[in-house]
Amino acid sequence: MSVPNVDPSHQPNASAKEATRPSPATEGLDKSGERVREMFRQIAPRYDVMNHLLSLNIDKWWRRKAVQTLKIQGDDPILDLCCGTGDLAIAIADAAGADVQVIGSDFCHAMLEIARVKEAKRTRDTAGGSGRHTIPFLEADSMAMPFDDDSFQCVTVAFGLRNIANTDQGLSEMARVCKPGGQVLVLEFSQPTLPVLKQAYNFYFRHVLPRIGQWMARNDKSAYEYLPESVGKFPCGDALAGRMRDVGLQHVTFRPLTLGVATIYVGEKPGGKTDHAEMAAHREREALVAT
Ligand SMILES: C[S@@+](CC[C@H](N)C(=O)[O-])C[C@H]1O[C@@H](n2cnc3c(N)ncnc32)[C@H](O)[C@@H]1O
Repeated sequence: MSVPNVDPSHQPNASAKEATRPSPATEGLDKSGERVREMFRQIAPRYDVMNHLLSLNIDKWWRRKAVQTLKIQGDDPILDLCCGTGDLAIAIADAAGADVQVIGSDFCHAMLEIARVKEAKRTRDTAGGSGRHTIPFLEADSMAMPFDDDSFQCVTVAFGLRNIANTDQGLSEMARVCKPGGQVLVLEFSQPTLPVLKQAYNFYFRHVLPRIGQWMARNDKSAYEYLPESVGKFPCGDALAGRMRDVGLQHVTFRPLTLGVATIYVGEKPGGKTDHAEMAAHREREALVAT
């Protein structure tokens, strides 16, 4: 098993500092780290209940599909960033081999505390007998992560990329810490394309969800008004797949779930064994043609 290096003194580099400006796709919406962190701090105690209730539990199925999309091989570690209360990290760790170290990271202390309690309960329930590693939940900004380049076989994010102040910086960081040949996976809300469904969805998102959300979460900054706004302004489908290609990922594909309410995007970091094999085969073919 290999464990990645964590540099606790890691400071955002110049481009990450620069990137605290919102990306063009989110202009007009305050996604500053302070605002987003404070919003999640306020809703943390009720985040899980709200999530399952407002999505009618479909969010659990979406995360399961995301885990099934991963091609976990060998014992290289896996990173789930913007992990919040830890559901995706825990689902990945349960599905991966006992030798695979999964790490969760997020910049909201209150969300991580809940993830840690869940993970401690799981360890207690199995009396440490599941054989798998305990997940460390680390406090880190996804725009400047304290991990070396090429550290993880898979880097995932569920419903988090949309909240990062600069989408491209978040994607670049994901690609940076991913191993060559590894997978970068994004699970994110998207806009349904069927006109009738789109209208119903927009009505639910704009009028029903914020009221229930605000009432239940007693959140004075209105996180559940932020949700439809941030989804409406966030790229989806081909647009987000293009942004993943722009940071250097290859073979990017996406799969809409539940009529497009959410989408799984997956891309590969170039330089893996298959690339080398393909390049060798290509060189061989060229050599044959030349002779
Ligand atoms: C909607 S929650 C998603 C949580 C979890 N991944 C899930 O599937 O439920 C978004 C999370 O992203 C985190 N987040 C947003 N921007 C971040 C950043 N720049 N760095 C680290 N975490 C961030 C928030 O603190 C929050 O926990």
